[in-house]
Amino acid sequence: MRSLKTLFTFFAILMIGAGSLDAQSEDRVVKLMEELTNAPGPSGFEGPVRQVVERELRALGASISHDGLGSVIGEVKGPNGGPRIMVTAHMDEVGLMVQHIRSDGFLRFKKLGGWFDQALVDQRWTIVTKSGPLLGVSGLRTIHVTPREVRNRVWPLEDLFIDVGARSREEAEAMGIRPGDPIAPWSPFTVLGENRYAAKAWDDRAGLVVMIEALRLIKEEDLTIPGDLFFVATVQEEIGLRGGGTSTRRVRPDLGISIEGGVSADYPGARPEQAQERLGMGPGIFLMDSSMIPNQKLRDFFFEVARQEGIPLQPNVLTGYGEDGAEIQRYDSGRPAVNITVPARYLHSHTGIIDRGDLDGAVKLLIAVLERLDRVTVKELSSF
Ligand code: CO
Repeated sequence: MRSLKTLFTFFAILMIGAGSLDAQSEDRVVKLMEELTNAPGPSGFEGPVRQVVERELRALGASISHDGLGSVIGEVKGPNGGPRIMVTAHMDEVGLMVQHIRSDGFLRFKKLGGWFDQALVDQRWTIVTKSGPLLGVSGLRTIHVTPREVRNRVWPLEDLFIDVGARSREEAEAMGIRPGDPIAPWSPFTVLGENRYAAKAWDDRAGLVVMIEALRLIKEEDLTIPGDLFFVATVQEEIGLRGGGTSTRRVRPDLGISIEGGVSADYPGARPEQAQERLGMGPGIFLMDSSMIPNQKLRDFFFEVARQEGIPLQPNVLTGYGEDGAEIQRYDSGRPAVNITVPARYLHSHTGIIDRGDLDGAVKLLIAVLERLDRVTVKELSSF
């Protein structure tokens, strides 16, 4: 009797768990988050992400063009030649690149973007080859044969390698691997607890989701947006804002809004002296980062719109973080630009975590701002 009851409880828990997961996975935002975060797209190799972004923007009526580096520009014209508003998020993620294949079949690699060396060992990776994606493992030295005095050291990049199961260079080459192939973290999207999500590449797939979902709601709810909108998904942000610069020169914006994965400093050991965003406390806004200080009127405009809409907006002052808004700000003789965020924990690693409320808040804030950015307002924001 007792064991039957235990069994029943066990199945009941299973069914409740399955039920809530089903409800969440039917959600189109969750599906888009899953598809975008699972797609491999290290800097310079954004193809799989670009496919998804173009499909979504096109389905929402945007006309698609590109800059010369492969950034996607989705244009949605306003009613009467309004100001040119550039909304941008980057498609690339931090990854690695195959440097050379050793004669024993192991791969040596270099970093694409900012990684701790300690984050690189003992992980699974996707190597994107001419023959398709391949799984690789960055092997960890075996503890049993590692001298006690070096067990706690961080192994430098030069000592690391990826094992793809090849027995020789020839075998690795036959699998399709070539020097220069991009390598992305392997870390499948997972729903965590209630409305929190674990995945790789929240920086900046979260920004792409915000951008696409904002356009979807603008269309669905038939909202009036006075400006000409340019939804831009940039390339090569993590290695120096490269697509941000080229796409901005193509768009010729009057004003720019960058959307990024923010820095949530709320895990054990994190301090407000590093960053001030907290998961679940709303979208963020950078008041300073290492690439720019936002236009003060535009900054205040965002706080005022957030107040009117009842959206909590978290300020963040930090260093050691650059973003594409800086390229918009420096375009031509200078433009108002700002960076808003979806706070994320553990950026530039295999698995980050975001909160759904923050993402929804960022979407709502972006829409409310776009509804108000008419010619007169943009002119006023651009004046001194
Ligand atoms: Co980023």
